[in-house]
Amino acid sequence: VELIPRPLIDALKGKRHRIPPVWLMRQAGRYLPEYRAIREQAGSFLNLCFTPDLAAEVTLQPLRRFDFDAAILFSDILVVPHALGQRVWFEEGEGPRLEPVADAAAVDRLAAAFPDGRLAPVYEAVGLVKTRLPPGVALIGFCGAPWTVATYMVAGGAAGAQGPARLFAYRDPEGFAALIDRLVDASAVHLVRQFEAGADAVQLFDTWAGVLGPGEFDRWVSEPSGRVVEAVRRELGDVPVIGFPRGAGTQIPSYLSQVPVNGIGLDWTVDPTFARRSVQRDTAIQGNLDPLALLAGGAPLDRAVDQVLEAFADRPFIFNLGHGIMPDTPIAHVERMLARVRTA
Ligand code: CP3
Repeated sequence: VELIPRPLIDALKGKRHRIPPVWLMRQAGRYLPEYRAIREQAGSFLNLCFTPDLAAEVTLQPLRRFDFDAAILFSDILVVPHALGQRVWFEEGEGPRLEPVADAAAVDRLAAAFPDGRLAPVYEAVGLVKTRLPPGVALIGFCGAPWTVATYMVAGGAAGAQGPARLFAYRDPEGFAALIDRLVDASAVHLVRQFEAGADAVQLFDTWAGVLGPGEFDRWVSEPSGRVVEAVRRELGDVPVIGFPRGAGTQIPSYLSQVPVNGIGLDWTVDPTFARRSVQRDTAIQGNLDPLALLAGGAPLDRAVDQVLEAFADRPFIFNLGHGIMPDTPIAHVERMLARVRTA
């Protein structure tokens, strides 16, 4: 058997490479003209997610331009509420909309057991990507963490509104816990199916982890995320998982003590000395270039890349952004960033 190195998987096993593996959150998306073309062809965003051939094609597009070390499945965290029976749609230029799950009665109306058959096209896309990927490139599957998915399910429309979920959790903690429990089960099944279809690792996106105080953070972020990872491992053994509790800051140690991840994604606001002290050496750090530095380009981009490498490249590390790439990012800036990481 020929041994093809897979730097991303190595990093998640606690191994350091002199040149770290690289991929970017939202690397498949609107900053690529070839994505915009297929997006238009697909009509609706969800239709793109649920057409295996198109979803696979869009997943592979960034790999044809850039020699990233990983592909991330093209899909969305909101396919899970969609499968649970909530109405989800994407308003052109406005982002996601959902029929709000506003109270315990609405939680009860969601599917009790996760109808994973509704997401068969997603798993089919994973399988197609797997057969078409260049050797050595890892395939990352993902889901939203229960807390972040719940914020969208409860708020419905208003993009980026976490108040409604926070209020629900204060007013009716048991009703809200029932929603979180359903998402724990659904997320675990969704991740297991992606592994079975060919994913090499998965990432748990907790975009809104940073809006909670310590008690709520433990109850709605760490504890449910820990249960997701444990449920996946009960089924599949010791598979690689990356956690991304964006904005967790000083709660990173608490997160790591409850969520058994192999890698932790950091956003750009975290103090690197604090982060290094908080993450054991056998856990990979992933991140954390400011997406606006990538958008800015030039000398500020070079400086920001160097700072990230100086902070983390002497340990198991995956170079990435601190959040998704901005849609107006020039392709030349991505090329410049990659060249700098690879020749450092
Ligand atoms: O390349 C990749 O990273 C894989 C694809 C991916 C998408 N969404 C595609 C997408 C991933 C991993 C996600 C995760 C996701 N989706 C998150 C967590 C990570 C994050 O970015 O915070 C969240 C919160 C969502 C929900 C969501 N989907 C929002 C808020 C939006 C609108 C904002 C926006 O950027 O447009 C989406 C739509 C979406 N998901 C797009 C893409 C490429 C843009 C839709 C389009 O092409 O019209």
